[in-house]
Amino acid sequence: MSCQVILRRATGHGPAAAAGKVELGYLFLPQAWGFGYAAEACTAALAWLDEELPGEPVVLFTQTANARSMRLAAKLGFTEAGRFDAYGAEQRFGLRPPATESDALTDDSQATTVAVEEPSGRRRTSSRS
Ligand SMILES: CC(C)(COP(=O)(O)OP(=O)(O)OC[C@H]1O[C@@H](n2cnc3c(N)ncnc32)[C@H](O)[C@@H]1OP(=O)(O)O)[C@@H](O)C(=O)NCCC(=O)NCCS
Repeated sequence: MSCQVILRRATGHGPAAAAGKVELGYLFLPQAWGFGYAAEACTAALAWLDEELPGEPVVLFTQTANARSMRLAAKLGFTEAGRFDAYGAEQRFGLRPPATESDALTDDSQATTVAVEEPSGRRRTSSRS
């Protein structure tokens, strides 16, 4: 597997304000960096979420030293809701407010598959085209 985009309910590893909210996570192998793939896959995952659970805010935890991840979070519409220390580093608590109808995906030219981790731990894949 060369990449992973996960949507799940945040557990206790972030600030209390984030617990139970939908959390986005992403992990791509270095050879897949720098092409916009992560942004495209995360955009598709968030669009799927907006359809399935309209009105859900999304949280994201990012090491502040991780410049690529911070740039991606900003691109995806996350704004800073706080900072905290974990795993020996400063973390940024990002929050993406619920989408409006005008935020809907406009570029349907490419198919994207995303993996979603449900609260039960079951994983589900979804394709958009
Ligand atoms: C965080 C991570 C997913 C970001 O990957 P990324 O490839 O930099 O992210 P994007 O998909 O937004 O791609 C942006 C880059 O693609 C480039 N790009 C090239 N072609 C592009 C295109 N057609 N469209 C958009 N961007 C394009 C952009 O210029 C940008 O490059 P730059 O950062 O050198 O300026 C990746 O670094 C990663 O997996 N890191 C390890 C795991 C991690 O840190 N996870 C976060 C935990 S919270």
